[in-house]
Amino acid sequence: MLDHPLTPITFQRLLLTGAAGGLGRVLRPRLKRYCASLRLTDIAPLDAAQVGEECVQMDLADAPAAQKLLQGVDAVVHLGGVSTEQTWEPILAGNIVGVYNLYEAARKNGVKRVIFASSNHVMGFWRQDQVVDADSAPRPDGLYGLSKAFGEDVARLYWDRFGIETLVVRIGSSFPEPTTRRMLATWLSYDDLERLVVSGLTAPVVGWSVIYGISDNATAFYDNTKARHIGYRPRDSADAFRPQVEAAQPTIDLSDPTQIYQGGAFVRAGHFE
Ligand SMILES: NC(=O)c1ccc[n+]([C@@H]2O[C@H](COP(=O)([O-])OP(=O)(O)OC[C@H]3O[C@@H](n4cnc5c(N)ncnc54)[C@H](O)[C@@H]3O)[C@@H](O)[C@H]2O)c1
Repeated sequence: MLDHPLTPITFQRLLLTGAAGGLGRVLRPRLKRYCASLRLTDIAPLDAAQVGEECVQMDLADAPAAQKLLQGVDAVVHLGGVSTEQTWEPILAGNIVGVYNLYEAARKNGVKRVIFASSNHVMGFWRQDQVVDADSAPRPDGLYGLSKAFGEDVARLYWDRFGIETLVVRIGSSFPEPTTRRMLATWLSYDDLERLVVSGLTAPVVGWSVIYGISDNATAFYDNTKARHIGYRPRDSADAFRPQVEAAQPTIDLSDPTQIYQGGAFVRAGHFE
């Protein structure tokens, strides 16, 4: 939790999807400081609503429920959906139908801005010795990455056609600390996640922009130069963990695709095995 919020309270009502998930639980107490009312939703059960919170358990694949969910919302932090490589059916429901329903509901309810939790796995088949930026072509590493690429395109359509702004955040690895050599490049601390989301919510002009969700790591596969207008300034770094990570994983096997490509283990994961 940041000691000093970057920006004082700004929103009447924010919506946080995926609120029962790993990052949803991280952001739930943090986002409350930026809004009068925080609406929380997930397909899974949520902890009981506290003061200033509303909880809605629903499936994003349910269009009428999504329509109702977006009523009276100023901006959305969209984390909900499948977050790992799985079979097609849950990905279709959560990440394809779900993201379409969310944007349709945003359009019909006049919501103007979305922070969309996309993924590094949109770019997973770029190599770790290549640096990609906001304009690099997507190279998804599986059905999950493919579904996130679809979500990014839905967001772009709704910007071009309806003026709904989206900050696409291709999150690297947001966990308490980096545990692998790859994560030394992809790690995003929870405090930097908050900084990034709040930067996206409060930047004066977002349009449709892509940013990579990483901390200030010395090694990275990502160049965020083209997202300078968002004003995200990471303050944490994976580098403090480098000695222990390198001790645990002293060598890299350059014949192993999971160690060569940016997507890591995801390039071999899933039902294609
Ligand atoms: N944690 C990371 O490092 C990381 C990296 C890249 C991208 N992301 C993305 O960030 C978001 C949050 O990640 P997380 O680690 O908290 O994942 P998570 O799986 O813990 O949380 C996702 C939540 O979405 C909910 N959900 C799934 N299908 C749904 C549906 N059909 N309708 C409504 N809710 C549904 C799940 O119940 C879950 O609580 C995800 O979209 C994920 O793809 C996270």
